[in-house]
Amino acid sequence: TTIPTINWVLNETSYTRLCSTKKILTVNGLFPGPALRVHKGDRVRVNVANQGKYNVTLHWHGVKQPRNPWSDGPEYITQCPIKPGANFTYDLIFSSEEGTIWWHAHSDWSRATVHGPIIIYPKNGTTYPFSTPDDEFPLVLASWFKGDVMENIETALTSGGEPNKSDALTINGQPGVLYNCSQEGTYKIMFEYGKTYLLRLINAIMNEEMFFKIAHHSFTVVGLDGAYIKPLVTDFIFITPGQAMDILITANQTPSHYYMAARAYSGVVYDNTTTTAIVQYNGNYTAPSAPAFPTLPGYNDTDRVTDFTRQLKALDSKDHPADVPKTVDTQMFVTISVNTLPCDTNGTCSGPDGNKLAASLNNVSFVTPEVDVLQAYYRNLSGIFETNFPNMPSTVFNYTADDLSDDLLLPETGTKAKVVEYNTTVEIIFQGTNVMSAAENHPMHLHGYSFYLIAKGYGNFDNATDPELYNLVDPPEVNTVGVPKNGWAVIRFRADNPGVWFMHCHLERHSSWGMDTVLIVKNGKTEATSMLPPPKADAIVPTIMLHTLP
Ligand code: C2O
Ligand code: CU
Repeated sequence: TTIPTINWVLNETSYTRLCSTKKILTVNGLFPGPALRVHKGDRVRVNVANQGKYNVTLHWHGVKQPRNPWSDGPEYITQCPIKPGANFTYDLIFSSEEGTIWWHAHSDWSRATVHGPIIIYPKNGTTYPFSTPDDEFPLVLASWFKGDVMENIETALTSGGEPNKSDALTINGQPGVLYNCSQEGTYKIMFEYGKTYLLRLINAIMNEEMFFKIAHHSFTVVGLDGAYIKPLVTDFIFITPGQAMDILITANQTPSHYYMAARAYSGVVYDNTTTTAIVQYNGNYTAPSAPAFPTLPGYNDTDRVTDFTRQLKALDSKDHPADVPKTVDTQMFVTISVNTLPCDTNGTCSGPDGNKLAASLNNVSFVTPEVDVLQAYYRNLSGIFETNFPNMPSTVFNYTADDLSDDLLLPETGTKAKVVEYNTTVEIIFQGTNVMSAAENHPMHLHGYSFYLIAKGYGNFDNATDPELYNLVDPPEVNTVGVPKNGWAVIRFRADNPGVWFMHCHLERHSSWGMDTVLIVKNGKTEATSMLPPPKADAIVPTIMLHTLP
């Protein structure tokens, strides 16, 4: 059988938002980008022609890509960038994912405009584990910057200050009525009374965790990060950057217009504005001059966040079983901090004390190499990365205290990877810290895997008592976990996907500052199917549109 190939062109396209026009990098001229629609188990190639002016790579967030890190995408981790004028073909292997995930650029800050949904339908001949919805709407939350988004990587890496705030948050590319010059374009979805819709909600926002709500309607969340969950009835959603949710909604209210709205959670966010869109019922009625507006949780309503996230449980049915590792071969303890590093540009840094802002995992601030780690690992090149990512910082602190020692202010720098044996089980305890009194939630994302989120809590993780909280029966299987502010989260997975996999905070400014590391999963010893295959030929395969995807 032939593998279908889709052709995507990356180009600069003019968009007008917030009363001004600028060129943004897009796929096929679209913002948000095109949806990739496949069925579980499919294989698809995406040929990317870079006609923009920046180096770019694309990443398939939540696609596990078994034995296929060559097509995973993070720049200088699994590939070198696609240069302006060049092509690259990604080979996407869909294995166990089902539901909504997404794709995005994975170089510098270009994902601000280069992203879109990945929709994975059940395998032909199988159905959803809920009544088939009448229709569906992808809803992509994103950030809009009036300036050039690429300035932000400069700021983050060179002068060391805070990158720019986004100027608006958007729903499917539109800021909505609460922003200047945005009334007209406000995004709208149409409902038919009595029908049930599947909303495929994606948080593609650069730096904010979000609350989302639709006036007068309630939701049933049925999927998270490309896996089904036990139906969760709620009137609001909390979604962290990197996450995607499948949400059922029934059009059971008086036919009218209703607002949907989303805004950030947490006091330290950049953009505290509210993005809106409209739900419009079909029918003969007088449109209200002021449609009902949802009451979102307060921007700092941590209780609602905790409440929502602890109710997310794997569906764990016969067709979609949860399979949590019951024993642990490798345990990692990973502290997450925002820190500072000495200024390397002689006094021009704008962080605290003339230093630059930085971020770290286990007090190592990640340095992006110049040759991708995967190539270096496969070809045994030395000097590109080290395999000594620490198991934990050398000194144990009260991580969430207000007066943390200055030792934690200056992390080391390096390209350090953690190596684990094939098919062993891994547990990671993520511990948030309050270094520089900068405690925040951190959406930690791992490439190449989904993992079980077995527990979360506030304060310092306590090895004596917290394991009693572990859910080893039906924890959600996710690819991104929001590690709570001044708290911890524990995940488990089986390391059955050999290769080089990036792990990082999905807040773009933290990732740019070095809140990243690399997980290397070694080859198995016996079966060929446990080995990392060689890289694909570098040559660009000419592509033909073989058939259109569903
Ligand atoms: Cu969605 Cu490495 O990211
Ligand atoms: Cu972070």
